[in-house]
Amino acid sequence: MISFLQGDVFDNIKKLEDNSIDCVVTSPPYWGLRNYGVNGQLGLEPTYQEHIKNIVELFRAMKPKLKDSATVWLNYGDSYSSGKRTSTTNQTLRGNKNYGVTRTPVQEGIKEKDLIMIPNRIAIALQDDGWYIRSEIIWHKPNPMPESVRDRPTNCHEKIWLITKNKKYYYNSDAIKEPTTEATKQRMKSGWNGNQKKNYASGEEQNHLSNYFGSDKAKENALKGRNKRNVWTITTKPCKEAHFATFPKDLIEPCIKAGCPEGGIVLDPFGGSGTTGIVASQNNRNAILIELNKDYIDIANKRIHKELGLFNVKS
Ligand SMILES: C[S@@+](CC[C@H](N)C(=O)[O-])C[C@H]1O[C@@H](n2cnc3c(N)ncnc32)[C@H](O)[C@@H]1O
Repeated sequence: MISFLQGDVFDNIKKLEDNSIDCVVTSPPYWGLRNYGVNGQLGLEPTYQEHIKNIVELFRAMKPKLKDSATVWLNYGDSYSSGKRTSTTNQTLRGNKNYGVTRTPVQEGIKEKDLIMIPNRIAIALQDDGWYIRSEIIWHKPNPMPESVRDRPTNCHEKIWLITKNKKYYYNSDAIKEPTTEATKQRMKSGWNGNQKKNYASGEEQNHLSNYFGSDKAKENALKGRNKRNVWTITTKPCKEAHFATFPKDLIEPCIKAGCPEGGIVLDPFGGSGTTGIVASQNNRNAILIELNKDYIDIANKRIHKELGLFNVKS
């Protein structure tokens, strides 16, 4: 089942049942990057400090709605201070079109050309507010937006923070295992020898590795696949229906499979074109999508109709 709540995220979060959400997968509007065309949207705050304050407030409002075991997967890309330029960088735009965003000028503490480091600032603010930051996942894009810069490398990644309410939480690592490499399989067969050990740090780490590769259980587990790493290489894919950046389905499938039990509820407070709902549904999870802009709910409905059939949509 996919349910839509149309309107402002703060108004709609209040309507959710306490202790009901298993998992949140979301990508808020990035600060200063684009205008989604409706009053009341996040991301257009005059300073990044106000934006971060709003994100922290949103997480506070979400907290009682989450189960104690819940996981939150927060995707956020960084941007540069663009000085006096008023057009946006093309980071999230299609075909270099300007969708009417006014770039915020240089502000206190951030110089022209500085990387603003908003994803990190948001994570630190949430950590200071009591949340656990459990992983910094790098979404590596092999097909990044071209940039005309010559004085720094081209940006080809965004971050996904895995955030939790508690120390212990639902996480199904088996559901997202990666294939074991040939090198590891060989090591399993031939054992861990002195030469291989020399390539690693001495002392404690060597003992750990000897134990790790020594036990039969460890060998058996390693052959079934390895624990998913925190760098994920996934190409961006344009969504025909939406002119804003949408999640690639492959990006959020691991979040949902590992972070939400089957039959559970995934919330996306910035639902956009409904990708979280589609992937949740394809993996036997329910979804609640909050979205301010009615046009985007129409787009999401069309996609859901095309990809899943209309029967499981409720608004
Ligand atoms: C980056 S997009 C999300 C895209 C989505 N991940 C997808 O795959 O389609 C952010 C969305 O947040 C919505 N939004 C902005 N401010 C909002 C608010 N105050 N309440 C609810 N939604 C809001 C925008 O309309 C936009 O659709």
